[in-house]
Amino acid sequence: MEADLPTLKQAASSCRGCELYKNATQTVFGDGDPDARIMLVGEMPGDREDREGQPFVGPAGRMLERALEKAEIDRSSTYVTNVVKHFKFTERGKRRIHQTPNRTEIVACRPWLVAELELIEPEVLVCLGATAAQAIFGSSFRLTQQRGELLLAPDVEGAPWDEGQGPQVVATVHPSAILRTETDRAAMFEEMVADLRVAAAALR
Ligand code: URA
Repeated sequence: MEADLPTLKQAASSCRGCELYKNATQTVFGDGDPDARIMLVGEMPGDREDREGQPFVGPAGRMLERALEKAEIDRSSTYVTNVVKHFKFTERGKRRIHQTPNRTEIVACRPWLVAELELIEPEVLVCLGATAAQAIFGSSFRLTQQRGELLLAPDVEGAPWDEGQGPQVVATVHPSAILRTETDRAAMFEEMVADLRVAAAALR
């Protein structure tokens, strides 16, 4: 029998599948509408998410929210999660600097993402950034080449869907990349909105 989301979240809160739990404040599990038709996947919680225990509640979350609003997607009707569910960082003075999760950490965390996909059964999956896109399509996926395209989730071994029954997938940039860029922030934001509109249109 499949567990429900609260049970899964509770189980993930004591996950020791990799070393990241040691320095993180808490597991940041996915959150949102259990009946969502759109599921969004990011990379890993950031500093604010680690403190608050919710995905995308910091600056990247606000950027995501703005883009969703402009694409006419109601965030509260989506389910939002991350590939890796503990914050990985190095300390520089008082600041905690994000570190990209490595392959071992991504693989260790995969069962949680698979379980979320099994429970939510989204019609459309939006991958926010390369880590999320590669978690679905494999490491040869190139965001620069395939962002904004409506793709079909691959039937890889261990995929949480039956053959040919996977969700449609749209990959786009990570909202943090828009925050980090020093050039063309407005254009990058509009491109993200355009990618999200592809996801919204796939539902109709
Ligand atoms: N970046 C992510 O990938 N996920 C979050 O939840 C916050 C920032």
